[in-house]
Amino acid sequence: MTANFKQQSPTGSTPAREAVLEINNLKVYYATPTGDVRAVDDVSFKVYEGEILGLVGESGCGKTTTAMAILRMVQPPGRIVGGQILLDSIDLTKVTEGELRDIRWNTLALIPQGAMNSLNPVMRVKTQIEEAIETHEGRQPPDKLKKRIMDLLGLVGLPSRVYNMYPHELSGGMKQRVCIAMAIVLHPSLVIADEPTSALDVVVQRVVGQTLLDVKERLGVSMILIGHDMGLQAQLVDRLAVMYAGHMVEIAPVENVFDDPLHPYTQLLIESIPSIRERKPLKLTEGLTHDLRNPPPGCIFQERCPKVMDVCRSVKPILLEVKAEHQVACHLYE
Ligand SMILES: Nc1ncnc2c1ncn2[C@@H]1O[C@H](COP(=O)(O)OP(=O)(O)O)[C@@H](O)[C@H]1O
Ligand code: SF4
Ligand SMILES: [Mg+2]
Repeated sequence: MTANFKQQSPTGSTPAREAVLEINNLKVYYATPTGDVRAVDDVSFKVYEGEILGLVGESGCGKTTTAMAILRMVQPPGRIVGGQILLDSIDLTKVTEGELRDIRWNTLALIPQGAMNSLNPVMRVKTQIEEAIETHEGRQPPDKLKKRIMDLLGLVGLPSRVYNMYPHELSGGMKQRVCIAMAIVLHPSLVIADEPTSALDVVVQRVVGQTLLDVKERLGVSMILIGHDMGLQAQLVDRLAVMYAGHMVEIAPVENVFDDPLHPYTQLLIESIPSIRERKPLKLTEGLTHDLRNPPPGCIFQERCPKVMDVCRSVKPILLEVKAEHQVACHLYE
């Protein structure tokens, strides 16, 4: 298949190598009466300055839990069981709630899954953005505040009339762009967008995707873009991280993932991308993933892997760099 990659900047595709976020061996479990659901199980990855890292994988593989853990917003019965979340060398798993409050918004910003439905439909856009600013920065002179909000609306491609409008008067794409505006209002260094385009139609998905790219280029922020539309990810992200059942199975620059997917799960994901002529279903073998409360020894993908070997049933593959900048967790490459 031929993927339509996003346009590379004139300076080339290599992102700056300074990591703004480094996650090491993160484990997040949900307690249930029948045992812990290992939603995120020993996940490690980095986000580099100025890049968009795409995070993909089937529903239930742990994408949202990973995002919530980074912000330390995992709700009970979930809890961070282990690992480090290093943001500018500060371990977020260790800081106090007070310190976290400043870090959220100022440094990290989340556009939660379904954000556009959580806008207050009967409060004007300007009032909602004003509240976001004043909650964190205190009262502001009205003229300055208005200019700042107008600039912000322009940055996310919204016309100035949106300033006085109510969310119920806006289309889905416009509401989602208001949510992006609210996320970047305090100039964070990392924005996490959880499936920001999934409720929108295909054309609007592209518009919102382009808005995220514009914001990244103009503010120089890093982003984690969670999604499951591989075609859209191909156009937007610099590197792609593929999760399966709470595990990170492959990470590489996006063009490498599409040209040379290494993990059997990634290969199936890419084969399933709808082409113009035909829409192919994901060719995964029948049956759901095994129970996340009781993972088998060995590889997490063994039950569904078309290339499973004996070793896969007993030895867990670890994420290794097997080619330049290309990490995969699979015994085929060891
Ligand atoms: N409150 C909860 N209690 C028990 N299990 C949960 C809870 N929330 C999420 N999970 C489980 O954690 C796993 C990961 O969920 P999630 O992070 O939402 O995945 P994704 O965002 O990739 O769809 C899923 O198996 C889900 O069933
Ligand atoms: S380790 Fe084995 S079961 Fe797992 S993805 Fe690789 S080949 Fe398949
Ligand atoms: Mg999710």
